[in-house]
Order: sequence, then C-alpha cells, then structure tokens
Amino acid sequence: MRILALGDVFGRPGRNLIISKAGEIRARYRADFLIVNCENASGGSGVSSVNANELLAVSSVDVYTSGNHIWDKKDLNNIIQQTDRILRPANYPSPCPGRGWGVYRLGGVRIGVVNLSGTAFMESLNNPFLAFDEIYEKIHPSCDAIVVDFHAEATSEKIAFGYHADGRANVVYGTHTHVQTNDARILERGTGYLTDIGMTGPYDGVIGVDREIIVKNYITQRRSRYETAQGRTQLNGAVFVLDEKDFRCTGIELVREIYD
Ligand SMILES: [Fe+2]
Ligand SMILES: [Fe+2]
Repeated sequence: MRILALGDVFGRPGRNLIISKAGEIRARYRADFLIVNCENASGGSGVSSVNANELLAVSSVDVYTSGNHIWDKKDLNNIIQQTDRILRPANYPSPCPGRGWGVYRLGGVRIGVVNLSGTAFMESLNNPFLAFDEIYEKIHPSCDAIVVDFHAEATSEKIAFGYHADGRANVVYGTHTHVQTNDARILERGTGYLTDIGMTGPYDGVIGVDREIIVKNYITQRRSRYETAQGRTQLNGAVFVLDEKDFRCTGIELVREIYD
C-alpha cells in the first residue's frame, strides 16, 4: 500500500497545483491514499471557507491535515466542524473547532490519520507525546495503519516523537518548516519516518513568502505584510510504502518537483 503525503499548501500557487493536478500526481505516484497539509492554503495563512470548499471538492485527496495557522481565516470554523476531511492538531484545547484525528476506509483497510503540533518554539499546547498515547489507545483497535502528521518547528522534537511512536504509528512525518529534510528512514519497529516533507507552493520565495519582503524584514528588523511569492512552483512530499499484510513501512520515496 502506498501512502502519499504532500507538504504545506501555500497560497494560490499551492492551491492551484492541488486543485488542477492532485489526480494526476496521485496516479503518477501510484498512491492508494493521499494526505495533504493545507494550513497555508489562503494567502499563506489559514484556509478561507471558499478555498476550503475548493480543496474539499478535490476527490483525489483523501484527507487534509494542518497546523498552527489553520484558524487564521475565521470563516473556516463552520466547515472544519462539519467535515472529517480537514484535521487540525489534536493537542489544541478541546474547545477549538474541528477534530485532530480520523479513521478512513480504503477498501477493506482502515487508516487512522492523526495530526499533532509540536510545542518547542510553538504554542504551549497539550503535550503531543501524551496526546498521541491517548489517541492511539482509542483508535488502534479499529485501525490497520496509523499515519501521523507531526507539525513542528524543532527537528529534535520531531525525531524524538518518531521514536516515541515507533511500532505504533506506521508512518510519522513532519510538516511546518516547509523545507524537506533528507533523513527518511525506517525505524527499528517498522515506522516510516521523515523529519519534514517540505511544502507545496512557491519555489522562489522564502518558505512561500515574497523573498524581497523577507530579506528587507531581516535587514530592517521590522515586519511588513507578507505576500505570496511569484515565480516557479514546487511540490514536496513523500510516498510511504507499507506492507500489505502487517503494514510495516518497507520503503520511503521522496517527492520533489519544480514547475516553471
Ligand atoms: Fe506551514
Ligand atoms: Fe505551521
């Protein structure tokens, strides 16, 4: 079984890529299941209700995960309450709209998808390691495979989480930094692991944002309004190959494409 995960969709370039090409990408990578992180889909921060509906209409994406930016556009709240195809990090306080995990059917296989946020250099949320333990106890009897999008800043926290979930989650990958790491590995108990799968959106900016704005911000040490970068577009992610019988990860194929 091949699970394709694509990193943070950023602004119109990322959105257009998913809306127009997700089916073709899914077919080309022979993916049985497609997970896309959507936290930056609208102008680089959050997902508007209009854009959420456009993304939900893409039937080749099974589920969207997200992260710290998910509620930046306030009109998402109703949609995220109603759909089980857009997840938010499970370890935000429970009154926050939306849900942090779901179990999805793929033929006779049940895939649990869990979205968590790290806490190092991020919001001080519920402990994501303990949150995973609780969710795992709840869902593992009804799942054949469990996939975790661990949305976090610190590589150390992501690596530690990979070891924590090894043998319980079948796949653990990171999102949030928008830069793909080169450390794909299968951990000792069979969990496929990658610290960050990278982003889907502008290639010529600074993690999605217009480069001149960001360079100027660093020079002046003041912050001006972000705009989505123009230019080429990139697609980043990974295919996690799982054994058909015991669902241990047997291979990881990196996805990195650049479009003119
Ligand atoms: Fe992001
Ligand atoms: Fe993020």
